[in-house]
Amino acid sequence: MQRCLTLTFARHSRLLLRNKFASVHCQQSAAMSGLLINQPKYSWLKELGLSEDNPGVYNGSWGGSGEVITSYCPANNEPIARVTQATMAEYEETVQKTKEAWKMWADIPAPKRGEIVRQIGDALRKKINVLGSLVSLEMGKIYVEGVGEVQEYVDVCDYAVGLSRMIGGPMLPSERPGHALIEQWNPVGLVGIITAFNFPVAVYGWNNAIALTCGNVCLWKGAPTTPLTSVAVSKIVAEVLERNNLPGAICSMTCGGADIGTAMAKDERVDLVSFTGSTHVGKMVAMTVQERFGRKLLELGGNNAIIVFEDADLNLVVPASVFASVGTAGQRCTTTRRLMLHESVHDAVVERVAKAYKQVRIGDPWDPTTLYGPLHTKQAVDQYLAAIEQAKQQGGTVVYGGKVMDRPGNYVEPTIITGLAHDALIVHTETFVPILYVLKFKTEEEAFAWNNEVQQGLSSSIFTKDMGRVFRWLGPKGSDCGIVNVNIPTSGAEIGGAFGGEKHTGGGRESGSDSWKQYMRRSTCTINYSKDLPLAQGIKFE
Ligand code: UN1
Repeated sequence: MQRCLTLTFARHSRLLLRNKFASVHCQQSAAMSGLLINQPKYSWLKELGLSEDNPGVYNGSWGGSGEVITSYCPANNEPIARVTQATMAEYEETVQKTKEAWKMWADIPAPKRGEIVRQIGDALRKKINVLGSLVSLEMGKIYVEGVGEVQEYVDVCDYAVGLSRMIGGPMLPSERPGHALIEQWNPVGLVGIITAFNFPVAVYGWNNAIALTCGNVCLWKGAPTTPLTSVAVSKIVAEVLERNNLPGAICSMTCGGADIGTAMAKDERVDLVSFTGSTHVGKMVAMTVQERFGRKLLELGGNNAIIVFEDADLNLVVPASVFASVGTAGQRCTTTRRLMLHESVHDAVVERVAKAYKQVRIGDPWDPTTLYGPLHTKQAVDQYLAAIEQAKQQGGTVVYGGKVMDRPGNYVEPTIITGLAHDALIVHTETFVPILYVLKFKTEEEAFAWNNEVQQGLSSSIFTKDMGRVFRWLGPKGSDCGIVNVNIPTSGAEIGGAFGGEKHTGGGRESGSDSWKQYMRRSTCTINYSKDLPLAQGIKFE
C-alpha cells in the first residue's frame, strides 16, 4: 500500500532535510494559529496524558531530543500538538535498555506474562472512547472505526491471554528406544514493530500482545504522521508495566522517520522486524533484514477484489461493496479496489452502488453520523487526482465522484470508474485512496484469473450461492490471497484468524490462529533417557 510519509531509504536524507524545514515552518504556523489541544473542545486529549509538547521516546523513562514534528488533523489541517522524535543516540540507548529488559521478561512464566497482557487490555478498555477519538482526530478515520481499532487491540489481548496457557510444541514419536523427541518454542527476543498511519493502534496491538505473551520485548516506531497516537498508546501500556514494577523498556517506543526504520532493519539486535506499510518500502526493509539473516514479518500492499456472480444476493453486494471501498476513505490495506461484476448484473450493480455512494454522509470524522472522512494527507489528495487522470487516459469513465471537495481538510469524493480493461496499468496499481474500478466479466474462470493476476495477494471476496463455486474459490485454483471470503466484504477481518497475504503483500501473518509462531523460534530436541546410544537411521558406527 502507498502510505504517505513512509519514506524510501534513498530519498530519506533529502526528505529529512526538507522535513526539517517543513517542521520549522509548521512549528511557526502552529504557534501562530494555536494548537487544537489548547482549545476547550479538545481538552479530552489531556485524559490521554498529552500536552502541547510530547516526548517521543519511551524506554522506561520518557525522553526525546530529536526533530520536533507537529501532528495535523486531516479534517481541517490544523495543528493538534507536537512530538519530539528520537535521535540516533536515543535509539541506541533504547535498544540497549529493551534488550536488558528482555532478560527478566523472558524468565517470567508465560501465563504470568499473559496476566500483564490482560491488564493492558483492561487499561485500553477504560480509554477506548478517548483513544478512538484521538485516532479519529489524528488519522482522520471516522470515530466508530477509531474505536473499532482499539477494540482490535483489546480483542487480541484477550486472545493472547488464552494463548499464554496454550503455547506448546508436540512430543513426537522417536524411532529410537528410550528417546524423546520434542519441540520447544522460545521467544526470539526483541521484536521491532514498524506500523503505518492507517491503523495507528490495531497493527501495533496485534504485534505487541502476541509478542509479549511469547516472551519478547517490543520496540515500536509508529508512522511519523500519527505520533500522538503512538505516545498515547505507549502511555497506557507503560502505566501497566510500571504499576507491576516491571521495566518499562519491555514496551519501548522511538518516534521517528526512515532513519529509525532503517536502523531497526539493519540492527542485528532486533531479532524480528515486523513491518506494515507499502510494498516498495517493505521490499527494502526485507532485503536489509535478509542481508543479516534476520527475521521479518511483512504486511504490505493489497489490490483486493470483490467478484459478484449472476446468482449473488445483491442486497448483500451493495452494502458490502460500499463499506469495503468507501470505509476508512479507501485507506485500508483490505479496501476493495476492484469490483468485478458478471455481465448480467453489471449495470444494475453499478447503478445501485452509485446510488448508495450518494447517500454516504461526508463530514467531520468525529461526528457520530459521519460515514466518510478526509484522506490522511495532502499528498494522498494529489495521488487521488493523478490516479483519476491515468484511469481516464487508459479508457476509464468516472461514473461517480472524481473531484476534490471544496471544504477545509483533505476531502475527496469517493469515486467509481467503469470501462477499464482488467489489466489496465492503473487497475493493477494500488493507489491508497477511495477509487473503485468496476470490471465486467463473463465466466468464473476469467474472474478467478483476474483476481489472481495482480502482484498483491491480500484479500478477496466472491458473492454467490453456488456451493461448488465456493469450494473452487477456496481451493488450489481459486483465490491466491491470504484472506479468501464468501458473501462478505474484503475488509473488516476478525482478529481470531491469521491476517496477511501472499506475493507482494509479503507473506507475513499477524494476529490470530498460529501467527504466534512467527514471534518464536523452534528447537527440535531429542533426549536420550536410556543407557544405550542407538543412532538414527539404524546406522552402526562401531
Ligand atoms: C490494514 O489496513 O492495515 O481487515 C489492516 C481489516 C482490519 C485491518 C486492516 N481488521 O480491514
